Amino acid sequence: MRAPLQFVSAPLFLALATGDFAIERRVYCPIVLLGNHMKGTALDTPHIAFVGAGNMASSIIGGLIASGHSTTCITAADPFPASLERLRNSAPVAVYNDNAEAARSADIVILAVKPQIMAAATDSIAAVVRANNAVVISIAAGVTIASMQARLGSEAAIVRCMPNTPALLQHGASGLFGNDNCSAQQRDFAQRVLSAVGITCWVDSEQELDAITALSGSGPAYFFLFIEAMIDAGKALGLDADIATKLALQTSLGASHMALQSDVDLAELRRKVTSPGGTTECAVQSFEQSGLRKIVAAAMHAAADRAAEMAREMG
Ligand SMILES: NC(=O)c1ccc[n+]([C@@H]2O[C@H](COP(=O)([O-])OP(=O)(O)OC[C@H]3O[C@@H](n4cnc5c(N)ncnc54)[C@H](OP(=O)(O)O)[C@@H]3O)[C@@H](O)[C@H]2O)c1
Repeated sequence: MRAPLQFVSAPLFLALATGDFAIERRVYCPIVLLGNHMKGTALDTPHIAFVGAGNMASSIIGGLIASGHSTTCITAADPFPASLERLRNSAPVAVYNDNAEAARSADIVILAVKPQIMAAATDSIAAVVRANNAVVISIAAGVTIASMQARLGSEAAIVRCMPNTPALLQHGASGLFGNDNCSAQQRDFAQRVLSAVGITCWVDSEQELDAITALSGSGPAYFFLFIEAMIDAGKALGLDADIATKLALQTSLGASHMALQSDVDLAELRRKVTSPGGTTECAVQSFEQSGLRKIVAAAMHAAADRAAEMAREMG
């Protein structure tokens, strides 16, 4: 059993002495690392380890800290010192260039690497995850629970998530699916982690994550496209580009706020802002006659099919 206080390694001692935390082999946070007693057993503040210290990891860490999660219970690993340094500049968490080291005491391990790196990243933490009975959360598109379980072991508790890019601004929307090995507490952990960057919705089957990919995962780009089209049309109607852009963006924000705060459904809300014989009615009729709903459905089916295909390709 590990002693409660584990003294700093020679590289960390040097880092502490010199104040230089740009690490050679391993990078520790400037605190004396605590041993396994820090591991959260039914803790309010579980230890969360991030494998991959890129954009998503930084955003989730920022959200966790903003929501009061202790920085001493967050670690991150990345083989690239520049990524670690970037993260350290925004969040005072312990960083490592060894995935297993970062996950050593973790209750939750978040795989925040690109899908093509997932196999290596999963292998690197398999032993510590088994030893800690940690829940593994993957945010990588297309990497199935079965493929992760093949590397982590059949008993592994795994939550697969599909976040979206607004998570980078803590306005994300994530779909989550957990395998049967996840306890209620581990689901709660996953929920808390993803809630740090936006709203979360659980689904009952992994297949539904393909639909979520088609809806909210790829969704921000659909809105960008629609707004682009509105700006182009506004310009064609004689508006200055800046004015068209400003008004289109604010209109999409205002419409979202109205819909979120409304207690009636979207169709009713639309009817309320559509006066009979007015301008909005003309435009909405034109959209319907042009088959907007069919266009959207075809696009989302294409996205869902591609998500399923990517999952098959990834194995
Ligand atoms: N960004 C989004 O909005 C978003 C939305 C939905 C889902 N996702 C998913 O979230 C995951 C992370 O996305 P991201 O945007 O955060 O990517 P990212 O910025 O590229 O971050 C991934 C980090 O992992 C590092 N890395 C590479 N190999 C590693 C290894 N073996 N062990 C540990 N770390 C390693 C990368 O280093 P290098 O950069 O030097 O390679 C990079 O710093 C991806 O699977 C992505 O599909 C992202």
